[in-house]
Amino acid sequence: MAVTGLEDIVAGQTSVSTIDGKRGVLTYRGISIHEMADNSSFEETVFLLWYGFLPHAKELDTFKEAIGRETLLDPKVAAWLKALPADANPMSLLRTGVSLLGLADPDEGCSVTAEPWKDGFRYMGQLTPGAPGYGRDHPSARKAIRLLGRMTALVPAIQRVMKGQAFVEPARGKSIAFNFLRCLTGQDPDAANEAIFDKCLILHADHEFNASTFTARVAASTLSDLHSAVVSAIGALKGPLHGGANTEVMHMLLEVGSPDKATAWVKDALEKKKKIMGFGHRMYKTEDPRATHLRRMSESLCAKVGKPEWYEMSRLIEEAMWELKAIKPNVDFYSASTYYCMGIDPEMFTPIFALSRLSGWTAHVLEQQANNRLIRPVGDYVGPQEAHWTPMESR
Ligand code: CMC
Repeated sequence: MAVTGLEDIVAGQTSVSTIDGKRGVLTYRGISIHEMADNSSFEETVFLLWYGFLPHAKELDTFKEAIGRETLLDPKVAAWLKALPADANPMSLLRTGVSLLGLADPDEGCSVTAEPWKDGFRYMGQLTPGAPGYGRDHPSARKAIRLLGRMTALVPAIQRVMKGQAFVEPARGKSIAFNFLRCLTGQDPDAANEAIFDKCLILHADHEFNASTFTARVAASTLSDLHSAVVSAIGALKGPLHGGANTEVMHMLLEVGSPDKATAWVKDALEKKKKIMGFGHRMYKTEDPRATHLRRMSESLCAKVGKPEWYEMSRLIEEAMWELKAIKPNVDFYSASTYYCMGIDPEMFTPIFALSRLSGWTAHVLEQQANNRLIRPVGDYVGPQEAHWTPMESR
């Protein structure tokens, strides 16, 4: 008997992250998401997810430099972006952009089995071009570093092209959060906005065998390449039941319009059997631990920019959903008002999710490749039995 949606089915082992849905716990490599969000940086989080341990200061610096060297927008991708219709879906642009980056990658064609990924990051010093042994690290690890750098420039470039604005170059020696906001807005972010965005990136980085990560692992299990796995994952994240929900949450808030309409709006939507975006989760039976941080950030940021109504509306919707359906918000609910109050367009919310989740996808691809077996489940066949082909004239 098939289990619909593979609910509660254990589909493989992982040591990257885990969720305890009953207690509302999420850990990255055993470390609570709360500790990571309160103390870490996105770059350190990526390091932890990819290599399994917290870096020393020099290791982290080398890692940041390696990513920083890759943050320029690829010229071929820039030319392609400019030639596209401005109203194209940003997630479709991102999916295609990453595919182009794969074609342009110097390791395109490198066999994923050539040098099995085991303790690859101990090759860290060799990430510097020209250093002894450079290139001996695993092709997928090199690709992951390049792709993280390139996507830091690509995601904001998508919004700028949609608005008919010129591309902005990232600054050297700055964080991914800083450069993302700089390339998006054309202005260097202040320390507070950089810190908020950095925390958002940490919170979205990995989430065990979610739909897009599982998609990436399935692609990787065929011994396909890292870019193909990421392109597949972007396609899965795009849907509104997954990453696409954060954009839909902001559309909902804009439709509701003001706090005094929020409760009635929810009642009406539920009576019409609509799903309220940003609520519910397959795994969490209590508060999504990521939502705890995002709620706080939404409250302080909405107040700071003089738009408290977006937080108030969100709070009232949360209260109504709890009262009427006993369903809690997930990561996508308060991220919407948070990003909106940072001046980010709703259509960019899901590509931002992808930029962060790239770290988790690639960690899982590396893990899959290190100990691979083709992922190939079984279908519960419910179609006709013993049917026969009949000639056209007798059908
Ligand atoms: N609004 C209204 N009712 C809901 C909602 C919601 N957001 N979520 C679940 N329910 C109800 C659903 O109607 C069903 O009720 P009933 O048993 O009476 O038919 C019950 O709760 C179980 O829902 P389900 O859709 O079978 O649960 P699932 O585990 O298959 O789906 C989910 C989980 C996240 C897809 C679902 O909660 C949902 O569609 N939420 C809205 C979209 C969303 O916010 N997605 C982001 C998920 S978290 C971040 C991420 O992964 O990207």
